[in-house]
Amino acid sequence: MSEHHPAEAEGPCHGLVSVEVHLHPDEARRALHQEALTGLCLHPKELSPKWLYDERGSQLFDDITRLPEYYPTRREREILHAHAYEVARLSGAVTLIELGSGTSEKTRLLLDALRATGSLQRFVPFDVSEPFLRRAAATLAHDYPGLHVHAVVGDFERHLAHLPRGGRRLVAFLGGTIGNFKPEARARFFQDVADQLAPGDGLLLGTDLIKDRARLFAAYNDSAGVTAEFNRNVLRVLNRELGADFDVDAFSHLAPFDEEQGWIEMRLVSRRAQQVRLPALQRSTVFEAGEVLRTEVSCKFRPRQVEAELSAVGLQLAARWTDRAEDFALSLAFKH
Ligand code: AVJ
Repeated sequence: MSEHHPAEAEGPCHGLVSVEVHLHPDEARRALHQEALTGLCLHPKELSPKWLYDERGSQLFDDITRLPEYYPTRREREILHAHAYEVARLSGAVTLIELGSGTSEKTRLLLDALRATGSLQRFVPFDVSEPFLRRAAATLAHDYPGLHVHAVVGDFERHLAHLPRGGRRLVAFLGGTIGNFKPEARARFFQDVADQLAPGDGLLLGTDLIKDRARLFAAYNDSAGVTAEFNRNVLRVLNRELGADFDVDAFSHLAPFDEEQGWIEMRLVSRRAQQVRLPALQRSTVFEAGEVLRTEVSCKFRPRQVEAELSAVGLQLAARWTDRAEDFALSLAFKH
C-alpha cells in the first residue's frame, strides 16, 4: 500500500518532496503487541531494539551520539569526511537510498560529494517514523535545490522490495545499525538487500569494530547515565502503548560485552521480584529479582568478517575504510 504526496515544495526552487507510506502507526502498534507477547514469554525475556526509538528515545539516542564515551558516530563521520568523494566517484549513483536515515547530518557529507561529482538526482530516506521523515525530507529538499527527495516510510526488515528502481543506486546503511541484527537475521537482511540491487548498484555499510573491552563497555555504560535512560525509556513506551505498569525505577541498566557472541547486550535488570500488568495483552508477567530483559544487541565486527558476509550474497567489496584509531569501518560493495 502506498500514498503519494508529491509537490510539497515550499517555494519555486526548493526541489520536490514525495512520501510513500508502507507502514502505518496502527500496524506498528500491532507489531509491538505481537512482539511484546512473544518476547516477554521468552527466557531470557527479550524485546526488539526498534521500540527504543519513540520521540523521547530518538532524542536520547541523539544525546548518546555526543557523549565522550560513545565513539561510533564521531568515527564514522571522520571516515565520511575523508572518503565521501571516493564513495561518490566509485558509485556514480543517481539515487542515494539511506536505510534508517535518522538525523541526516552524515547524509549531507554523501549528498555533497555525490552532487559535486555530478551524478545525483534523487535522495530516498527510508525510515519507520512518518512525521520524522517528512520533516527531514522537507529540510533536505530546501537545502538541496533540484534534488528530488522521495521519502519511504517502512520497516527495512519487511519493505525493502519497495525501494525505488531506475538508475544507478547506492544504498547507505550507516551508524552501525547492522549490529542490531543477530547473525541469522543479518544474513537474511544482506540477502534481501542483494536481491533488490541491480548490477552496478552499491551498498555502503557502517560497522563498529571489536576493540579494547573497557572502551566498548564505557560506550554503552556511560558515566552520565544517558544510555541507562535510553534503555529504561522502552518501559515507558510499553506503559504508554500497552497500558502496562512497569515501575521504571525498579529496573537498572547494564550493557556487558558478550565475548562469545561478539556483541554488546543491553539489559534491563529487575531490582526486585515484581509483577507487571499488560492490559492490552490481557496478561501479566513476573520478574524475579535480578531477572534480565534484553532490549538490544549491538554486534561488533572483525575486519574481514563483513567482506565475507557480503561476498556470500554476491556483493563484492570495492573499498573499505577505517578511522585513524581503527574503531569503526565503512565498507563499499557492489553487485555484479
Ligand atoms: C543506533 C544501533 C547503532 O548499537 O551503538 C547506542 C544504538 N544503543 N547505545 C548502537 C545504541 C546503546 C546504536 N545503534
